[in-house]
Amino acid sequence: VIYQPPYMNWASGALRGAPLICKTTHLGDLPSVFANDIAWRQSDPRQPVYRVEMFESPSGEGYLYTGVTHLHPGLIGDEYFMTRGHFHARREQGEIYFGLCGEGLLLLQDEQGKARLEQVSTGSVHIIPGFTAHRLINTGSGVLSALAVWPSLAGHDYAALAQGFALRVVEQGGQVQAKEVQNG
Ligand code: F6R
Ligand code: ZN
Repeated sequence: VIYQPPYMNWASGALRGAPLICKTTHLGDLPSVFANDIAWRQSDPRQPVYRVEMFESPSGEGYLYTGVTHLHPGLIGDEYFMTRGHFHARREQGEIYFGLCGEGLLLLQDEQGKARLEQVSTGSVHIIPGFTAHRLINTGSGVLSALAVWPSLAGHDYAALAQGFALRVVEQGGQVQAKEVQNG
């Protein structure tokens, strides 16, 4: 007997063949995430920014979660649409991201506040070590989709980055620009 596994469309990141858990994050769910608070307030709070689809999975020691993030293109002021970003609650737990479609950046930041960026594109592989916060940024004109695999026990700690990351990625004269945040 051959079991038919669930599958993913590698071009689009669409998941099929098993129950999914889906969550959409809208602009209204992201207060104080973007630098330009006035521009954020003037935006439509119902506008979707990203959707995460993951296979339903047991959790516990040894179990992994598999999910795809679809991040829309857009700007708040001059800052590109991005995910909220987080450390794992279990700080030592890592994660792997795979670029599927679209163009963007993965912003990584260690516990000392040192940030770096990796280019995300079709086929890119991003090994996120433990103790490293991560955020996806869409610098392209289409949807940025990335596959992620992470330990079910990792959890999310959003509060630790409530003051923001040390780098902001903005569009300046049609160019992608990374800016260091002074008070970050
Ligand atoms: C899981 C993970 C991703 C993100 C997703 C949404 O550990 O890193 O599945 O959860 O890209 O981003 P956040 O959770 O920062 O809103
Ligand atoms: Zn994560």
